[in-house]
Amino acid sequence: MPDLILRGCRLHQQTQPVDIAITDGRIAAVAPGIAETAAREIDCRQQLVTPPFVESHIHLDSVLAAGQPRFNESGTLFEGIQIWGERKQSLTRDDVKARALEALKMMAAQGVLYVRTHVDVTEPRLIALDALLELREEVRDWTTVQIVAFPQDGIYSRPENEGLLEEALRRGADAVGGIPHYELTRDDGVRSLHRIFDLADRYDRLIDVHCDEVDDDQSRFLEVIVAEAIKRGNGERVSASHTTAFGSYNDSYAYKLMGFLRRTNINFIANPLINITLQGRQDTYPKRRGLTRVKELWQNGTNVSLGQDCIYDPWYILGNANMLTVAFMTVHVSQMTGLKEIDAAFDMVTTNGARSLHIPDYGIREGNPANLVVLDVPDAFNAIRFQVTPRLVISRGRVFAETEAARTRMET
Ligand code: FE2
Repeated sequence: MPDLILRGCRLHQQTQPVDIAITDGRIAAVAPGIAETAAREIDCRQQLVTPPFVESHIHLDSVLAAGQPRFNESGTLFEGIQIWGERKQSLTRDDVKARALEALKMMAAQGVLYVRTHVDVTEPRLIALDALLELREEVRDWTTVQIVAFPQDGIYSRPENEGLLEEALRRGADAVGGIPHYELTRDDGVRSLHRIFDLADRYDRLIDVHCDEVDDDQSRFLEVIVAEAIKRGNGERVSASHTTAFGSYNDSYAYKLMGFLRRTNINFIANPLINITLQGRQDTYPKRRGLTRVKELWQNGTNVSLGQDCIYDPWYILGNANMLTVAFMTVHVSQMTGLKEIDAAFDMVTTNGARSLHIPDYGIREGNPANLVVLDVPDAFNAIRFQVTPRLVISRGRVFAETEAARTRMET
């Protein structure tokens, strides 16, 4: 007998409702009208049931630390880096773990059960890294955390940073990161990317680079990543995050790059909430949108997923942990308001994210872990339109979070 059956589930882009049976934390069956009964049954009322949302890009070490020691008044990336440089002097393991755990719980309540976090490894004690490595294990029975070793200040800006990055991989980071546009010279930026690919090979890790997160149309590190991925044949293990300069490239160059992208399958991770606010700060008018070419990449067949990047931190003081808000912003900034385009934005916070993160057992299929999100809307369009909080979040077969819908009574 199954432990739990969800009745009347509408799956994304499928018309016939199904039941989902769960046994020992795994999906045992997905079929219309399952005849068996279970100890607990939940009526999903023909509403949308989806695999969990995937947060492809966040910084758990800096979440919920806005205003410490001061708020970012210019709203720029670089003032954010300065403020974080001051705040990270006073990091403790407990401080990082407490804030990160609170953010993970906020995310789980919103149906986010797969999280890729960057962690700054240019802080010489590696306190935040150790804190998040510990936390990754402590939360393993209800959420999945993947850690990117991120050299926030650059690999070559200080002599010790290169060694710290490698040490982070030795300690167990899942992926190697970088920030080539913030290295001191173009040459250092290119050299940093070669180093990142070499380290990923040596330690068998994924790659996720903060790449070209500037408005400078001459910031062209993406082409270096694409070239390395083509030459090494490892594109599916590589993600290029932000790539906002791609939004400023001239079309001739951009479409040459699009062609190269069809020769590899690297992942793009866009962060529209933060980049619509951070970018274009030096522009007067017209003011650029500061987002990579999400719509055109999607049309090009390139995998694009999405991240919040920040929740109440030195770069961005908003953030509600809901990936549907991120999809909502994407639809606006990328002008993806066609129905198929809105569905594509939903994929970007679910299946595409799972592809970027290399999650092997993602999705509503027999045998996969029973990680499911029950929404109170019939489809992805309405999920994004109303940015709903899930009614139920099921993690490893158990109901982990339950939210009651707000009700409005109206005199008419
Ligand atoms: Fe980031």
